[in-house]
Amino acid sequence: MRLDRFLSECTDLSRANAKKALHRGDVTCDGVVVKNPGFKMSDHCEVRLLGERLQHLGERYIMLNKPVDVVCSNVGEGNYPSVLTLLDIPKAQTLNIAGRLDADTTGLILITSNGPWCHRVTSPNKECGKRYRITLAEPLIADAEQQLAEGVQLHNEKKPTRPAQLERISDTEVLLTISEGKYHQVKRMFAALNNRVITLHREQVGGITLGENLAPGEWRELTAEEIASV
Ligand code: URA
Repeated sequence: MRLDRFLSECTDLSRANAKKALHRGDVTCDGVVVKNPGFKMSDHCEVRLLGERLQHLGERYIMLNKPVDVVCSNVGEGNYPSVLTLLDIPKAQTLNIAGRLDADTTGLILITSNGPWCHRVTSPNKECGKRYRITLAEPLIADAEQQLAEGVQLHNEKKPTRPAQLERISDTEVLLTISEGKYHQVKRMFAALNNRVITLHREQVGGITLGENLAPGEWRELTAEEIASV
């Protein structure tokens, strides 16, 4: 890899500012100042910027426990900052957020630098199930399981929803697994059953479960097994 690209991928420097840092003599490779932006690095080259060791992170795969009042877009919306502002890592703003949760929804968000992997998580055709824990305003009707398994008709949609699995914990607390992600989908599904969602929390995406010890706003890297499960 070229040295200027390496610098821009593992620091907050743009490619142009990486070149300037090189010209200033701020960068060493294996202890020797290198000023040429096109310098081709060997795999084991030790690069330092102003004496600080840099490490290339490769592809990034992150799970984050989304708190309320942040949005799942790369820039903030209105008074709500982007969920990416919770990541204290270089170039966080360039990462892909796999699917959107509403500002008032909490729980599992997957974030990655790998575009095709992100697509596999979000594409309805890949049937990657998303499980939500939901509290409802009203007691659930008796045949809710059957209606959701057969698909319900959402307002302003051409087709009914795909089959969804409902697990009743109590009359007003349920787990719902869906494999698509239409706008406000879960809220609209319960509206179709004459109910209303009070709290919505995503616990699982495909084979990836939100870590129990991640407090709202905290994140961790995915394990190799979790990455491969998608
Ligand atoms: N369905 C919703 O209605 N909201 C979400 O945030 C996620 C799924």
